[in-house]
Amino acid sequence: MLSQSDKKQAVAKKAVEYIEDDSYIGVGTGSTADCFIQELKTIKHRIQGAVASSENTLTQLKSLGIPIVPLDSVVELDLYIDGADEATRHRHLIKGGGGALTREKIVASASKKFICLIDDSKLVEKLGLFPLAVEVIPMARSMVAREIVKLGGSPNWRQGFITDNHNYILDVQNLNILEPALLESKLNQIAGVVSNGIFAYRPADQLLIGTDQGVEVI
Ligand code: 5RP
Repeated sequence: MLSQSDKKQAVAKKAVEYIEDDSYIGVGTGSTADCFIQELKTIKHRIQGAVASSENTLTQLKSLGIPIVPLDSVVELDLYIDGADEATRHRHLIKGGGGALTREKIVASASKKFICLIDDSKLVEKLGLFPLAVEVIPMARSMVAREIVKLGGSPNWRQGFITDNHNYILDVQNLNILEPALLESKLNQIAGVVSNGIFAYRPADQLLIGTDQGVEVI
């Protein structure tokens, strides 16, 4: 039996095979993305540049001498690689456990291809067991929380946590996510919401899933 950490390492290693020479890539955030960043070290001479999805990822990329570019300087990224908290076989995701969802969504949206790396414990029939992160403008925190309650959710303020964009996170449980794209859009309509962790409008194009039998590709 492989550990969750072994599975993360395996998908990170596999992901490197998808990077083409002279490409621009987006790099995600979290422990799985961290494994991928370590793998990037070995092929850093083959990429033109990397866009980071968080300050944490930026620091790591810089320390490894991986060429960094701002998103503004690239029209479209060739590939985005990131982890997720939950994924379905339709490649809809919940992300944002690490609080970097907004920049992650921006970088994913700016990329031709999004490969998501998970271990098999994160593959679900239906999204929503993992609390859904919603990034909010600080002054709107209570108001947004009340609106989320009207949608059936139970929001919890992630106290002591400030996002890279200087905002707050509400972690929402009990949402019945039958139609991920619809809920993604509804949440974004609430004034004060910056973004939410459902990735359905821009799902992953491919899932690499770490299993005991090896890496499964969907
Ligand atoms: C951060 C994220 C991460 O991709 C997600 O939380 C998965 O993290 P990990 O790879 O540590 O399990 O969305 O905002």
